[in-house]
Formats: sequence, C-alpha cells, structure tokens
Amino acid sequence: MATTLPTHQVKINLGERSYPIEVGSGLLDNPATWASTPAAATALIVTNTTVAPLYARRLVQALQARYKAVHTVELPDGEEHKNWQTLNLVFDKLLGQGSDRKTVLFALGGGVVGDMAGFAAASYMRGVPFIQVPTTLLAQVDSSVGGKTAINHPMGKNMIGAFYQPQLVVCDIDTLATLPPRELSAGLAEVIKYGPIADMQFLAWIESHIDSLLAGDPAALAHVVVRSCEIKAGVVGQDEREAGLRAILNFGHTFGHAIEAGLGYGKWLHGEAVGCGMVMAAQLSLRLGLVDAPFADRLTALLRKARLPVVGPRLGAQRYLELMRVDKKAEAGEIKFVVLDGPGKAIVRGAPDALVREVIEQCCE
Ligand code: NAD
Ligand code: GLY
Repeated sequence: MATTLPTHQVKINLGERSYPIEVGSGLLDNPATWASTPAAATALIVTNTTVAPLYARRLVQALQARYKAVHTVELPDGEEHKNWQTLNLVFDKLLGQGSDRKTVLFALGGGVVGDMAGFAAASYMRGVPFIQVPTTLLAQVDSSVGGKTAINHPMGKNMIGAFYQPQLVVCDIDTLATLPPRELSAGLAEVIKYGPIADMQFLAWIESHIDSLLAGDPAALAHVVVRSCEIKAGVVGQDEREAGLRAILNFGHTFGHAIEAGLGYGKWLHGEAVGCGMVMAAQLSLRLGLVDAPFADRLTALLRKARLPVVGPRLGAQRYLELMRVDKKAEAGEIKFVVLDGPGKAIVRGAPDALVREVIEQCCE
C-alpha cells in the first residue's frame, strides 16, 4: 500500500561523481523522479525473477516518459547466482538489443542485482550510466550507495568487481512492504552496524524502535534509511576507494563473509552472516580490551531482538581462518579485523590467531 512520506535527499559528495539519494514514498511510479536521469535513447532495467513481477512494469511505464525504448532483463534470484554466468546475461541483453554507450542501466532489486548491474555498467563499453533503485532494506541502507560493485568467486565473496558510482539512488520505502520478514531482519543487521561504528544515538534510537521496524512501519524505515545513508555518505565522501576509513563499514563482514563462503552462498543471508559476524567482532574487541562486556552483550541483545542469528555455524576455527585470509582487507596473509575501539568508534587491526580461535570457539555452535 502506498504511503505519503516526505521525500528526503541525502547527497553523496564525490566531486564530479557526486549524486543524490532520494528517500520517500510513491517515487517509483512518479515520472518526476526520473526527470533528471541521463538522456539516452534506451534504458535497460536489470532485475530478477522475484522483483520483476512486483515492480518492473511500474518502472518501465514511468521510464517510458523519458526513454524511447525501455528493456528489461530478469536474472535468476539468489546470492548463488551472483557470478560470471549471470552477469553475462546482462551483456547478452545489452549487445542483443544494440545498446550504445549512452544506454542507462537501472538496477531494480536487492544488493545482488545492484552489485551485478553496477559491475555490468562499469564494464559495458568501459562504462555506461547507472541508476540504483534498491528494493530491499539492506540495499537501501548500504549496498546501493557508495559504488562498490562485484560478483562472487567460489573461493571468496565479492572478489571480482569495480568501484563505479551510480548517478542517482532512489529508495522508495513503499517497495519494502513486500519484503519477507527474514529479509527485513537481514537489512536491519546493516542498519544496526552503523550504531557501534559511528553513532551511539542512532543505536539507542534503533533499540527503542525495533518493534516498529520489525513491523515494517514506513516512517521508522524511512528514518533508518536516511540516517544510514547519511552515515555511509559521510564515510564514502572521505574515502571512496577504501584506502583506510571506509573499511569500518565492514564491521562484522570478515567473519560474515567466511560464514557465507564456508556454508555455500545463499545458505545464510548476507545480513544474517554480517549480524552474527558483528557478535564475533564485538567479542574480539572485548578480548582485545577495547570494549567492555556489557557493551558487547548490548549489541548481541539488539541483534537477537532483530531476529538475527547470534550463534555462528560450526565450520571449525581452522576453516574460518582459511576463509578469512581471502578477505580483501588481508595483507600478506594477515587477516585485518574491524573492531570497536570503544562504543561508537571502529578501527582496523590484526589480532593473534589464538584470540580469534577463542572467539570462534565461543561464538559458534
Ligand atoms: P538480495 O539482493 O538477494 O535480495 C534479497 C531477496 O529479496 C531476494 O530474494 C530478492 O529477490 C528479494 N526482493 C528484493 N526486493 C524485494 C521486494 N521489494 N519485495 C520482495 N522481495 C524482494 O539480497 P540483499 O540483502 O538485498 O543484498 C545482499 C547482497 O548485497 C550481497 O550480495 C552483498 O554482498 C551485497 N552488498 C553489497 C554492498 C555494497 O557496498 N556494494 C554492501 C552490502 C551488501
Ligand atoms: N558495505 C561496505 C562498503 O560499502 O564499503
């Protein structure tokens, strides 16, 4: 059901690659939303088999006011399809319809579609314009913003990709109404992440509104999308290509990516793995003497309330360590962890294997 939320704009400041993130309701169908997208003869909507029946027709209709031809490509749904084979379906479509270097790609879907459409846009004819239309909470608060695009490799998550910024991000909160509860919780993991790494007031706000968020209250969801995008825009604006600071956005991801790759992509949702990874990263921070036990417990309690798993799968400490050495932050085989340096601040550092093993033993079933 459509709601009537005010539209908020968050700006991501990257010089000539700056762009707005629009957050509101009724945005998808409104031709005014798309009035300033890049001029071209054709547009291609990259979506998947789940999202297409829900929203593709509406986006096609809205875009027909701006583009002579609007095509759609439907990818198979799922993290296990975030690979070369699926990416090639986008190139097949682009070439098959004679797309030129002005053709605009629209990513309509969650983070999997967004990451793949972005990578396709970065590489088709060495770069075509690209718009993100995220339809999951996770994609609205994180993956559609900041220009990281990638596909997975069986040996490591998001290992092949490019930094490539969209020209516009449109977060229509109405689309979240059809999101399954498990996916909403997965998105909340990335929302909660911003608290311990950057904004303790935001963490307290999430704690006091967790029931509304889980119930899908549009105003509460719009608030967390806007605040999450503001925090992410602030970090990416200072460190677009992750020379340093941007790595803090990967809090929980080193353990989380190991869970995803170790179990096989798609078994646990990305947000579930990140949520559990944050429990492990908070425990590591505790063992390094950087936070106290009540704070680590507070974070775990919130993740549990968000209906996220807080106990990791038993892959074995050795397997976790092997998988984490393939992480993009690893340097010369040394795993780098994002840990909390007190509540509201994160840093990147190594940790002794013995300590990491203790955390894995403690946090996994
Ligand atoms: P997803 O893209 O798999 O979407 C989750 C599920 O929801 C899918 O089945 C999808 O079809 C469905 N769906 C999407 N929108 C829907 C809607 N409105 N109603 C009903 N169903 C809908 O997963 P995700 O959680 O959105 O994204 C996870 C991916 O994002 C991972 O691959 C992760 O690596 C990536 N990611 C990237 C970044 C980045 O900075 N690029 C950041 C975080 C995560
Ligand atoms: N999701 C982590 C980042 O964008 O850097």
